Amino acid sequence: MSLDVPAIRAQFPIFERKINGKRLVYLDSAASSQKPQPVIDAMVQVWTHGYANIHRGLYTLAEEATAAYEDARAKVARFINAADVGEVINVRNATEGINLIAYSWGEANIHPGDRIVITEMEHHANIVPWQALARRKGAELAYIPVTDDGLLDLDVVPSLLDDGRTKLVACSVMSNVLGTLPPVTHVAEMAHAAGAIVVMDAAQSVPHRSIDVQTLGADFMAFSGHKMCGPGVGILWGRRDLLEQMSPFLYGGDMILTVKQQESKWNELPYKFEAGTPAIAEVIGLGAAVDFLSGIGMAAIHEHEQQIVAYAMNRLSEVPELEVIGPGPTERGAVVSFWLPAAHPHDVAAILDEEGICVRAGHHCAQPLHDRFCIPASARASFYLYNDNHDVDVLVEGLHKVVRLLGR
Ligand SMILES: Cc1ncc(COP(=O)(O)O)c(C=O)c1O
Repeated sequence: MSLDVPAIRAQFPIFERKINGKRLVYLDSAASSQKPQPVIDAMVQVWTHGYANIHRGLYTLAEEATAAYEDARAKVARFINAADVGEVINVRNATEGINLIAYSWGEANIHPGDRIVITEMEHHANIVPWQALARRKGAELAYIPVTDDGLLDLDVVPSLLDDGRTKLVACSVMSNVLGTLPPVTHVAEMAHAAGAIVVMDAAQSVPHRSIDVQTLGADFMAFSGHKMCGPGVGILWGRRDLLEQMSPFLYGGDMILTVKQQESKWNELPYKFEAGTPAIAEVIGLGAAVDFLSGIGMAAIHEHEQQIVAYAMNRLSEVPELEVIGPGPTERGAVVSFWLPAAHPHDVAAILDEEGICVRAGHHCAQPLHDRFCIPASARASFYLYNDNHDVDVLVEGLHKVVRLLGR
């Protein structure tokens, strides 16, 4: 099942570029992935030959654009095994998807004294909307702690659920810092047994492994197209019965059935949640990204990344004083965050950049998690289908250079 990485890289025009005269070693796909030619072509095709606004025009171009847009939605629905396409809502990004739930579901269902439970390993996108909701409603925001090994401390969960006050549990399917893959389906079972709904942040999972929303255990799931070889759009998937009960998030054109001077009726799903003109070419580009990933095979991508992350963790252990945060390779996806006591992560990233290596440095939008590990920031290497062991070797050489320059 191994991937033909040179053939895959050849489909990404960016890899023709040199950075500082060096081969581009792109290790920041957890922030945003690179784009293959078929995705670029699909968007150029819309803009050059097939663009018009959707769902309104009664002419050929508009009908073609509408069909392409809805076809992309159907591809995404199949990709995550949604029971019906009406459950797949196009949004700007994962962040907007989570905010949509926090407003449309949260405003009606969270009351003073209720509890919202999240985890210490969340991205700010899955923290701040719940903080704001809890504050608006006089609810409590509680955290499932993370162990020293970077796993969820599940022993604490019953005490957060037993009193029946918890109405919503939100957790990441994979941590963008630790790479941890928490047992989300088990967490969902516990949450459901306690009467809470479950929101899953799958921004780091849908691009890397096959996800089936009918067995995952989520009631809502959000992810971003730009991390899965696609453009800047996002998807919110939700259970039809819940989406139908909810009020719209944004109001305006396209999300209505009828409008009178003083009142309106909402459109059916998914349009009720898609107010205004959407990112038409980008949604169609996401459909092309789904085709591209499916053509390679999510199982093969996942297996490839498991091999790379195991190789990377092994090789990183050769770098003096380097500390990896998070669990071992079998319990994580292809993300490795690390800390070198003698070098600030910003300096690590700047020195690696001289070698053509792109890593992320900072708190990766996960400040509470860095506080938990008592470090202000970390450097992060993340891997995708276009990376190989050679990229890891170049990274390790680069880190030896960092140690030579800045080490004690
Ligand atoms: C786990 C996780 N959740 C949410 C997000 C937010 O994604 P976006 O910025 O596309 O909304 C990210 C982005 O890095 C992420 O890693």
